[in-house]
Amino acid sequence: MIIIKSNHEIELMREAGKVAAYILKELGNMIHPGMATIEIDRFVEKTVKAHGMKAAEKGYCGYPASVCTSVNNEVVHGIPSKKRILRSGDIVSVDLVVEYKGYMADAARTYGVGEISKEAAHLIETAERAFFEGMKFAREGYRLSDVSHAIQTTVEDEGFGVIRDFVGHGIGGDMHEDPQIPNYGKAGKGPRLQRGMTLAIEPMICQGAYDVDILLDDWTAVTIDGGLAAHYENTVVITDGEPELLTL
Ligand code: MF3
Ligand code: CO
Repeated sequence: MIIIKSNHEIELMREAGKVAAYILKELGNMIHPGMATIEIDRFVEKTVKAHGMKAAEKGYCGYPASVCTSVNNEVVHGIPSKKRILRSGDIVSVDLVVEYKGYMADAARTYGVGEISKEAAHLIETAERAFFEGMKFAREGYRLSDVSHAIQTTVEDEGFGVIRDFVGHGIGGDMHEDPQIPNYGKAGKGPRLQRGMTLAIEPMICQGAYDVDILLDDWTAVTIDGGLAAHYENTVVITDGEPELLTL
């Protein structure tokens, strides 16, 4: 069942979303060669606390950190570590969920570290652009898979692949609510979009084949062929007009 949120609930998510957006913007200036991914975790932890909020990923299904940091061929759910040092040419996806008074906002960005290849930059830009192509259909009058389809065609037209094993989702009082939102599929299927729906829309894309494996830490998802992966996510409110992006 898709939960339609009240204005009050959306207001709490908006507050959480502002902090998520602030953190992701600051990380864009902070991430540099020689930095350990645990430093990203510490910054997230400290900043959400300073705003009286919570990093909702910590402890979620036993997840051990406050944020996910996924490097190069890691797609999602990489665990921050003091041993994982970012090098020039790496790309790192940061995915966080901020919780305020029981309501959540989920967002992700992929950053280049130092000088990155043209192909890596193209992958990162494509994930972001695919999200915004999806946004053209994130409004009343369309069905959910219209968003999915727009994302898929944008990504595949650039010669990249769409990850199948992870999907976007409804969000609000729970991190993962109905509906599931694949980044692929035929247009015109699934529920009709309605104002008050709050959705985490998150293209996860890769250079090569979309098959993934989970590492022995039980969390980190990697592309099996070793190709780079990029992630771009915002929490979105469906309205009677343009969608409202809570985490931008
Ligand atoms: N933020 C992720 C998402 O987009 C969920 C991460 S799982 C966790 O749905 F365990 F790390 F929280
Ligand atoms: Co999400």
